[in-house]
Amino acid sequence: MRTRPLKVALLGCGVVGSEVARIMTTHADDLTQRIGAPVELAGVAVRRPSKVREGIDPALITTDATALLKRGDIDIAIEVIGGIEPARTLITTAFEQGISVVSANKALLAQDGAALHAAAEAAGLDLYYEAAVAGAIPLVRPMRESLAGDKINRVMGIVNGTTNFILDKMDSTGAGYQEALDEATALGYAEADPTADVEGYDAAAKAAILAGIAFHTRVRLDDVSREGMTEVSAADFASAKRMGCTIKLLAILERAADGESVTARVHPAMIPLSHPLASVREAYNAVFVEAEAAGRLMFYGPGAGGAPTASAVLGDLVAVARNKLAEATGPGESAYTQLPVSPMGDVVTRYHISLDVADKPGVLAQVATTFAEHGVSIDTVRQQGKDGEASLVVVTHRAPDAALSGTVEALRRLDTVRGVASIMRVEGE
Ligand code: NDP
Ligand code: HSE
Repeated sequence: MRTRPLKVALLGCGVVGSEVARIMTTHADDLTQRIGAPVELAGVAVRRPSKVREGIDPALITTDATALLKRGDIDIAIEVIGGIEPARTLITTAFEQGISVVSANKALLAQDGAALHAAAEAAGLDLYYEAAVAGAIPLVRPMRESLAGDKINRVMGIVNGTTNFILDKMDSTGAGYQEALDEATALGYAEADPTADVEGYDAAAKAAILAGIAFHTRVRLDDVSREGMTEVSAADFASAKRMGCTIKLLAILERAADGESVTARVHPAMIPLSHPLASVREAYNAVFVEAEAAGRLMFYGPGAGGAPTASAVLGDLVAVARNKLAEATGPGESAYTQLPVSPMGDVVTRYHISLDVADKPGVLAQVATTFAEHGVSIDTVRQQGKDGEASLVVVTHRAPDAALSGTVEALRRLDTVRGVASIMRVEGE
């Protein structure tokens, strides 16, 4: 057992960082045994130095993260600041200083993961990021390591705790969107700017990271088709209920049948109540991974929050510290396939479309013809009349997204169609 401690710089001490510091202190003896050397919190970089931080020696606090990394005695940096800058420059500085990095920063990894991995590899250092996807759930390492001998063809799941919390509250208690978002923010689930959660950017960043790992290719944030959940209404939940479904914000990554391309998308979707994802409540996440030999695997657990996320960060800290002592590094980026990412128009799925139409003879036939003209086959139609108008709910068979978009454009042009109330994909059947 080495007695000289490995020194850790904690960059950021907010919801996640404060829990990392707490567990490092309270579990110090166990961490020492598991690593084979003590780990010492050697400095904590923050923005507001005067803020009271329970359990943290004020002498460790600094606002100069760069100086902390450059002072010459740091072995491992934990980046839990978030966002692109200064996180990117600090991680790069860490590598220049011979410091391995643990990060929870999915936004940065989705945008600049390739360059950061290259910098880590060039310096012979580790970049670990289990906490960046799905909070406490061990997912990155199982996909990168345990499934490294298999071929992953599909990943589908709930990867954002905040939006799952909001959708769950809207569905189960009838809570309003803003009320549920405020509660998720107070519980520490939301990003510093919750737009990242509700507009799907956070889930898209996680989708990009998972797609890269699953398909051994590079998928950037911009490659992921993204729709948020701010438009999901109580009426959508009522429609979903009538179909025996609920609504979840899903990330779906697929390898094309010919293996030559992939798709990556994030959007709200109806899923049957009998599907395991339908029972994922509050800020929990769940991810299905379908691999050729392993079959279907499901990963489930808390997807956000200080302590759950700190658990994943600490797991990475132990792994990186062990590598450091062994003078080794863990697996780096594996992006040897360079598969193109196909546009959303190529995605094939089912759709639930609510239309407001005139309630008169021939309207149903006109609508059905429009679907047929675009090659979209109808599965079920439900019509409810109300004062000369009617609400028409059409559920389609599987069709390409581009064909559905063409259908909807044509429907909007019909005089008898007063409006398209909602379009939602139906998954998990
Ligand atoms: P917070 O906003 O709670 O904490 C951010 C921390 O960074 C604060 O301590 C802040 O200082 C510090 N900080 C901000 N700017 C600077 C700067 N320029 N220099 C030094 N320190 C700075 O964020 P979270 O803890 O929620 O999230 C951190 C990271 O973890 C993000 O990447 C997030 O996406 C990720 N993550 C978060 C999860 C969650 O559930 N919250 C779950 C999974 C990942 P100060 O305290 O003085 O304001
Ligand atoms: N804001 C993120 C979420 C934090 O709600 O899932 C976890 O990555």
